[in-house]
Amino acid sequence: MPQTLAAPAKSRPAKPRNPSVPLSKNDHLLRWVEKMAELTKPAAIHWVDGSQEENDLLCAEMVESGTFIKLNEKLWPGCYYARSDATDVARVEDRTFICSYSKDAAGPTNNWEDPFAMRKKLRALFKGAMRGRTMYVLPFSMGPVGSPLSKIGVQLTDSPYVVVNMRIMARIGTPVIQEIDKGARVVPCMHSVGAPLERGEKDVPWPCNPEKYIVHFPESREIWSYGSGYGGNALLGKKCFALRIASNIARDEGWMAEHMLIVGVEDPQGDKTYVAAAFPSACGKTNFAMLIPPKGFEGWKVWTVGDDIAWIRPDENGALRAINPESGFFGVAPGTSKKTNPNAMATLAKNTIFTNVALTPDGGVWWEGLTDTPPAQCTDWQGKKWTPQIARETGAKAAHPNARFTAPASQCPTIDPAWEDPEGVLISAIIFGGRRATTMPLVFQAFNWSAGVYVGATMGSEMTAAATGTLGKVRRDPMAMLPFCGYHMGDYFRHWIKMQRSLSVTPKIFHVNWFRKDADGNFMWPGFGDNMRVLKWVVDRVKGRSLGRETPIGWMPSYSDMEWKGLPFSEKDFDALQNFDREEWRREVIGHEELFIDLHDHLPKEMVYERELLICRL
Ligand code: GTP
Ligand code: SPV
Ligand code: MN
Repeated sequence: MPQTLAAPAKSRPAKPRNPSVPLSKNDHLLRWVEKMAELTKPAAIHWVDGSQEENDLLCAEMVESGTFIKLNEKLWPGCYYARSDATDVARVEDRTFICSYSKDAAGPTNNWEDPFAMRKKLRALFKGAMRGRTMYVLPFSMGPVGSPLSKIGVQLTDSPYVVVNMRIMARIGTPVIQEIDKGARVVPCMHSVGAPLERGEKDVPWPCNPEKYIVHFPESREIWSYGSGYGGNALLGKKCFALRIASNIARDEGWMAEHMLIVGVEDPQGDKTYVAAAFPSACGKTNFAMLIPPKGFEGWKVWTVGDDIAWIRPDENGALRAINPESGFFGVAPGTSKKTNPNAMATLAKNTIFTNVALTPDGGVWWEGLTDTPPAQCTDWQGKKWTPQIARETGAKAAHPNARFTAPASQCPTIDPAWEDPEGVLISAIIFGGRRATTMPLVFQAFNWSAGVYVGATMGSEMTAAATGTLGKVRRDPMAMLPFCGYHMGDYFRHWIKMQRSLSVTPKIFHVNWFRKDADGNFMWPGFGDNMRVLKWVVDRVKGRSLGRETPIGWMPSYSDMEWKGLPFSEKDFDALQNFDREEWRREVIGHEELFIDLHDHLPKEMVYERELLICRL
């Protein structure tokens, strides 16, 4: 039967808002915006309300200016494509500073500068930095607006690219202004790409400055970022606020800001267990957060709460509750496919921004690993012609290894019904994991909380393309927080140890490694969906359903403790994967010591004792 459709009501086009009129009545905010405009001298000020119309307008302007290319609407509805400057492709850890009053408070793993000297430097850099550009006033909330666990920031930025990305990654605009006007505390976040435009000068698609400064003032809770428009350098709600500044707030307030994904694991009985996991950058958090149980796991379901950051706090019953402070995924594109991560593919199918992937002739995108057969031709992330033959001859990549998609979390097919619960979800287990070709078994469980803190504190991982630096080198990356802890790493370990005292139930702590390789350099573990087999053992341990086997480093599953249905994997292969090698572990413990020597005067004694116990067991 044909449906009768009501005639659409004639809508009068609303009078466009004048974006230079302040949206807030908060005096502090208004004065700060004024002061910063005086310093940076923008051509215009735009208060961001976060509306769809505003977003469409900004995107259209960026298409006009060449920053954005609109993708084929039929293939990629609502999607845009950006290419960054070739020198602005990842976080710059050597240009990231923690400017606490004392150098000792920042600790040896952070770059420190005297805050007074740094402020002077920043004032000089920001002076006139926005000339010829619009300064956007971007209010944002990390966490659902109004949740007791959420925190608010305002980013002043001269990058419209940042505004439209932040609109996906955080809650922004008018609802946040209302919180500010009610008196919520605001973390001020200054950002400039550092490329003022002289009168008549033509803009470039990706303005930035070779001189970069990503600066944090932990005591005054301030962020100043200069010179970069990319990812964690520029989307200040993410690493700068939700990790480096928030780790300081969390220590003062008795909670934790962590580089962790959060998943809910539902068993066939419908019982759900939430797990948080810390893996370093580009080591599999997004993939694990969107895991689809493999064949043999009928009735099991994994729900996604977050893929990068967790804010975790003890509730009044002494249980740990976590929220994902973000509302989008800024995920690594290369390697993402229907095979490895179908949930991510569904999430990024629309309303997504792609940066530094390749552009196909039909107005679509491609990256290494998206399909088995590459397109016959495309334009690479630097705008050059790319063909499989050119790739074979020169090794050129179509997409930059740190190319990323910015996609709304709400579009994820497995997004957890409780992902925006203002109270957070109950965390029963914490998993640490690095990218290690040798030494580390697939999985083991730490003996208890302090042993678990030691396991996290001594975590090692091979460096990835997420940060500029030496690829593949194993470095200590405690709790995957080395680039993100906003204070002394030794004090951070102490805070972890102390957290247990406010808990009545202590989450179990595990260590995993999806990346162990055999003598021929092949991964020994299929990974991805099959990581469910490990996750099930984790849940079984939490529920007291699996015994486990005691080893010098912790509890390990026996072959028979694991579910192998659907995967031909021999006991011999499993033993090799779980192998504990005394010689390798000797070297490993010496690696622990190198970090501990640097941190020694702030190291909690539990870490020293745990190390001694480990050495005795070895
Ligand atoms: P950030 O967003 O940088 O914090 O990283 P992330 O931890 O979310 O990393 P992501 O999930 O995007 O992982 C990126 C890389 O890890 C890609 O190259 C994936 O192919 C690879 N990866 C993820 N899971 C697995 C796995 O189980 N096995 C193997 N071998 N590779 C994996
Ligand atoms: C990471 O490097 O851990 C990321 C990407 O999640 S960025 O936001 O650029 O820091
Ligand atoms: Mn990350």
